[in-house]
Amino acid sequence: MAMERLDKLLASTGHWSRKEVKDMIRQGRVRVDGQTARRGEDKADPRQAEILVDGQPVDCGGLVYLMLHKPAGLLSATRDGRQGTVLDLLPDHLRRRGLFPVGRLDKDTEGLLLLTDDGPLAHDLLSPKKHVDKVYYARVDGIVDGADAAALARGMTLADGLVCLPAGLEPLEGGRACLVTLREGKYHQVKRMLAARGKPVTYLKRLSMGAVRLDESLAPGQWRPLTADEVASLRRERK
Ligand code: URA
Repeated sequence: MAMERLDKLLASTGHWSRKEVKDMIRQGRVRVDGQTARRGEDKADPRQAEILVDGQPVDCGGLVYLMLHKPAGLLSATRDGRQGTVLDLLPDHLRRRGLFPVGRLDKDTEGLLLLTDDGPLAHDLLSPKKHVDKVYYARVDGIVDGADAAALARGMTLADGLVCLPAGLEPLEGGRACLVTLREGKYHQVKRMLAARGKPVTYLKRLSMGAVRLDESLAPGQWRPLTADEVASLRRERK
């Protein structure tokens, strides 16, 4: 990998903004190959240099994993000629890294969306064969009950021919809402399954993907890097 500016390398990890990186360097908290870094413009080779922040090694050549609280109103796509996408919420240096959403949420769906440049991990998390559960909170027009839970648990075949794997449904709030657990992600799947039960979805939010739960301290539109533990849990689940 070519030599790159230190400030760019550190910001590209997703852990700090460009401004925070500048401050860290000014405060003498960044060391490169044993020397305290003084200038963000200094260059380093991310594959070879040992880069420490506050004494902790930082992997600047690695992959990026972000958790976004997707707001309603944006597409889960990398770009669209006419409409805003979730990538618009990221700063330039992360947009340029080629991150993409792990699966799609509908434009009006909110909640957990992972963004990464790790193609193989994203592929595995979405594969029904890997059994990575995705949990959604849905509010419905109507009342969901045990019969709906039983129908989802058997595996529904919709009128349009869509065959769904067995899924979980737990009624909440007297049946006006529910948790739906899927291990696949077909187009509009939660909405189509509940509509087929005569209980159309009025609000939908994804709460978790495998062991990674939406960090409720993130307001819609906010994001943060996954912690090392969260990335490790996703890697374990793909097995
Ligand atoms: N199911 C849906 O219907 N919509 C989503 O956005 C995700 C799952």
